[in-house]
Amino acid sequence: MEKLVSLCRRRGFLFQSSEIYGGLNGFWDYGPLGVELKRNVKEAWWRDMVTGHDELSAPNGAPSPYEMVGLDCTIIMHPQVWKVSGHYDLFCDQMVDCRETKKRYRYDQVQGRWAEAKEKRVFVTSVAEEVEEDIAKRGLKCFNLRNKDADQIKWDGPVTSLDKIAVEDLSSAFGPDAKEVGTLTEPRDFNLMFKTIVGAMGSEKDAAYLRPETAQGIFVNFKNVLDSTRVRLPLGIAQIGKSFRNEITPRNFTFRSREFEQMEIEFFCHPNESAKWYQYWRDRRFKWYTDHGLAGERLILRDHDPDELSHYSTGTADVEYAFPFLPEGEYGELEGIAHRGDFDLRSHMEGKLDPASCPLEVQKDEHGKPVHRGSGKDLTYRDDLTNERYTPHVIEPSAGADRATLAFLCEAYCEDEQPDDKGKMQTRTVMKFHPRLAPIKAAVLPLVKKDGMPEIARDLYRVLKKKMPVEYDEKSAIGRRYRRQDEIGTPYCLTIDGQTLDDQTVTLRDRDSLEQVRVKLDDVVSEIEGRIDG
Ligand code: GAP
Repeated sequence: MEKLVSLCRRRGFLFQSSEIYGGLNGFWDYGPLGVELKRNVKEAWWRDMVTGHDELSAPNGAPSPYEMVGLDCTIIMHPQVWKVSGHYDLFCDQMVDCRETKKRYRYDQVQGRWAEAKEKRVFVTSVAEEVEEDIAKRGLKCFNLRNKDADQIKWDGPVTSLDKIAVEDLSSAFGPDAKEVGTLTEPRDFNLMFKTIVGAMGSEKDAAYLRPETAQGIFVNFKNVLDSTRVRLPLGIAQIGKSFRNEITPRNFTFRSREFEQMEIEFFCHPNESAKWYQYWRDRRFKWYTDHGLAGERLILRDHDPDELSHYSTGTADVEYAFPFLPEGEYGELEGIAHRGDFDLRSHMEGKLDPASCPLEVQKDEHGKPVHRGSGKDLTYRDDLTNERYTPHVIEPSAGADRATLAFLCEAYCEDEQPDDKGKMQTRTVMKFHPRLAPIKAAVLPLVKKDGMPEIARDLYRVLKKKMPVEYDEKSAIGRRYRRQDEIGTPYCLTIDGQTLDDQTVTLRDRDSLEQVRVKLDDVVSEIEGRIDG
């Protein structure tokens, strides 16, 4: 992972936000190559899910043909949206602070444990025996703990309070052999939404929130989309855009950031058909990742256990990837595909939900009557062929553009041994991106800077540049130029050499197989386009 992080910085994929001021935790900037890579991820998703979708026929595995349209909604929405969606009341992490050390812990829902709220993931499970003895004997001011992989972790908090084990049941909170120093505050909720004030004269009553998901923009526009287009159900509405979460523990490069992009679809269908559509989207979305190069055991589709499901969901599956920064056997979520029933539309419509099935507090007016908290607008759908009116069910494939980009970066990183210009074996670093995702599609390289080769190469570069991102490079030995392109993941190098002058062909070198074939100058564009589209 360190090698990848260093390559990302060195070659301009990713930088820490505001780096010259020391960076800002949880925020990342995409450099010249990173921006192309992430754009390609988003464009591949948009093309495959939205604009390239053929609504006239049912794709493989789909119960019927369906329609797909897009939206681009605002980041700041009416605050009531977040009240009704549940984010205002429920989108919280639990947090405790250690009174002595001032260290902060957040409750890790997946692990069911408190995790130290800092970059490195630390589960304290035991105090090393020899260190414990040392502490007792010498009253040290600093000692080591072991994390769950038995690594030593330096602890520089006070050691006099070893006997103050404050969490009531440490074994369930920190693991079976846990010991901890310091006393912890009561757990408290921390809402993950970023708050802001709307208007120059705004006060607390004008508080608004940066959206923590793009999904709600789709729900609140459901009726607008139906009324302004000729679409019918089944219908998917897609959106790509920024979301913000004030994560307590941003970490693992861009994996958990405070500002990130989501690619979400809300798929509206008849309740009787929703189970089939859930299955379709679950499988379709998993295949999208394998089609773009995430394959093998590193990628899994994990169905949630019934006790993991939200109260309204009858099925959720996560696409997960074994990121190299995670411990062996652990996977990180790339996308969740959830059957959300009619929860969202019903909440925005009525707001007056059965308290048993809805966790939102029911607000009362001064007469003690429940206040209507939804929009009060009719968000049901009438099928004009059958005349049936119903509240659609929703299947939600919700992906993170930054997490997908990070997974494609991790998967692409390879090292192999190849001969250099003098035939000596050297380690080659190569980013094996799927050609569709590669930031630069081709590099045009004159073999030498004479005999008219640069002129032909520049002409070819200009023709290609109109179609795709390409690079021109005439500096240094050809082997070094190939290595440079390998390291940024350029799938094809086009070399203008002596033979080009005779027969108007160029050498096309494939990054992965290293195979070299000759292609006519006039055919280069169609050859590269054909290879990219697979
Ligand atoms: N509308 C449903 C929803 O937002 P989620 O599981 O909270 O569901 C969906 O988020 C996806 O957004 C995740 O699978 C992940 O890829 C991405 N995501 C969520 N939080 C993120 C964060 N802090 N940093 C980067 N990506 C994140």
